[in-house]
Amino acid sequence: MHNTDSAPLTARRAGPLTGMAQVPGDKSISQRALILGALAEGETRITGLLESGDVHSTAGALRGFGAVLTQEGPGSWRVQGTGVGKWKSPETELDFGNSGTGSRLVMGAMATTAITAIFTGDASLRSRPMTRVVAPLTAFGVTYEAQGEKALMPLTLHGAKDAKAVTTHVATASAQVKSALLLAALNAQGVSRISQDALTRDHSEKMLAAFGAKITVSSREQVGEVITVEGPVRLTGCSVEVPRDPSSAAFAIVAALIVPGSQIELPAILLNPRRIGLIETLLEMGAKIEVVNRRTSGGEEIGDLVVRHSELKGVEVPPARAPSMIDEYPILAVAAAFARGKTAMRGLEELRVKESDRLDAVARGLKVNGVPYTIEGDDLIVDGHGPDGVMGGGTVATHMDHRIAMSFLTMGMASQNPVTVDDVTMIATSFPEYQDLMRRLGAEFMERL
Ligand code: S3P
Repeated sequence: MHNTDSAPLTARRAGPLTGMAQVPGDKSISQRALILGALAEGETRITGLLESGDVHSTAGALRGFGAVLTQEGPGSWRVQGTGVGKWKSPETELDFGNSGTGSRLVMGAMATTAITAIFTGDASLRSRPMTRVVAPLTAFGVTYEAQGEKALMPLTLHGAKDAKAVTTHVATASAQVKSALLLAALNAQGVSRISQDALTRDHSEKMLAAFGAKITVSSREQVGEVITVEGPVRLTGCSVEVPRDPSSAAFAIVAALIVPGSQIELPAILLNPRRIGLIETLLEMGAKIEVVNRRTSGGEEIGDLVVRHSELKGVEVPPARAPSMIDEYPILAVAAAFARGKTAMRGLEELRVKESDRLDAVARGLKVNGVPYTIEGDDLIVDGHGPDGVMGGGTVATHMDHRIAMSFLTMGMASQNPVTVDDVTMIATSFPEYQDLMRRLGAEFMERL
């Protein structure tokens, strides 16, 4: 997949990275705050919202259902919701751009209201399987028309009338699928029971409780979780403070670890236990990451990070850790390239259905930059040759994937030769200020070599 207006960028070896990295609001929480705000009665006030392409696509779609969303200043939004079950059919098709989360959660949110909506998106989103969401939603009575076996967009979804509660197991390790079912359950009569083996991110559960949903969660490591939601429910608008995104912080963290002499600080980063697999892994690799001033904000754990350049060593990353760092494997692969020894990342099948086939995109990026690796099934094993062991010099195909672009720009900050990525426009879907923020820390980017 290619973006028609692509903008290549090159990163070259930088001096030490220093200073404060104020990364933007968490994407998952931002998406959920807008969606729950649009479902609730009354007003929801949001601060720290991520102002990015994905979040703005969701805001646009929610207006189509009748909610009133107003941006009052950067990151500061007011949402006037309709009440659960009161969304109307949008007059035009809904374009979710690059956003898998926005589109899939909204499918769930409209599934038990008798309305119809057409979902579409950019070339990347149109190639991503929607079966994983719409097939489980049929238990509530939805029907849909889409493209082929994978139910690709454009997809027309018809919400169910008088939906009844369901008991269902989510086989895919996906917070998006789980969340879609939880949102559908809000307007279904009775107690829905949704179980999942993997402990995927739990922001929907936490936020639903804060908006007044009747929700229970019981979860156990290695066993999984069972969530119940009783519907129909009235949600009440509330205040949401969005913490800073650990998945965006990941790029600055790894950059500081691999660029000699670096020391950076990242204030107020979300440290929800289901989101910090990368930090756990980097600590095992020998990273100097200090977490200070742990506290709670808006029902989520946060803390300030201090990160120093570190000598890293290869480690085993078990498949059970995947849900807590699912978006961080591309940047972990970059850290692993600068480590000594092999880093084995196991159980990466979900990477194949992200904004790109991330397993394949990472492998190709490593290859063109001279980093040895093997792929065994869905495992990626990177053979790191230490801080000076990455040749670089390659041009990486990003396949409309923001995280592939930021990961390989990070590689170029410490490799022998500069690294080019073929397109940086998609970075705006999750982290529009990435280039400015990294430049302020000392990174060097060039539009042309
Ligand atoms: C997300 C869940 C993850 C993640 C995505 C955001 C969410 O997807 O990759 O960037 O906000 O629920 P899956 O749930 O499909 O793993």
